[in-house]
Amino acid sequence: MIRAADLADLAALLEVERACFGADAWSDHVWQSELAGSHVIDVMANGESLTGFAIVMLAGDDAELLRIAVAPASRRSGIAQRLMAHALERALAQGVTSMFLEVESTNVAALGLYETSGFAPIHQRANYYGPGRDAVMMTRALAKVQA
Ligand SMILES: CC(C)(COP(=O)(O)OP(=O)(O)OC[C@H]1O[C@@H](n2cnc3c(N)ncnc32)[C@H](O)[C@@H]1OP(=O)(O)O)[C@@H](O)C(=O)NCCC(=O)NCCS
Repeated sequence: MIRAADLADLAALLEVERACFGADAWSDHVWQSELAGSHVIDVMANGESLTGFAIVMLAGDDAELLRIAVAPASRRSGIAQRLMAHALERALAQGVTSMFLEVESTNVAALGLYETSGFAPIHQRANYYGPGRDAVMMTRALAKVQA
């Protein structure tokens, strides 16, 4: 089931985070700040274990997907797509009209997820993640979200 994250999820979130992002993983401290802050964090919970999460920043008419991740052993079973649909539906219900995100141009899995979820590229930023590591900015309108 998808539910809101809370502080008790910290250890499980860090486990997914480290398995998914390796050297780029957010620290314990960053995650504590996220859990105490205003971003919307959803988790896919399976009993006491977490298989994935999504973080969204809501800002007026716009929303930005800040992070989405699924534990390696649970991938390609639609978990990210469900987390994304949930985030889009909530944003739409709150009056958001477009969602943005950025992704490294070589991240084939994330690009596939975003294209499947209706996002289209609008801009590319060279060296955004470091030398030779470009970012693709993507967006989608929310009016077409299916319930
Ligand atoms: C990107 C990520 C979240 C996808 O999670 P997932 O649960 O495996 O994705 P889903 O099963 O919901 O896949 C939905 C669609 O995305 C696309 N997709 C997912 N993984 C893919 C891959 N490895 N290659 C190509 N397309 C892929 C497919 O279109 C897929 O639909 P399909 O399985 O019917 O073909 C996961 O690979 C991940 O955690 N990666 C590391 C973290 C990361 O890079 N996050 C994004 C930047 S914050």
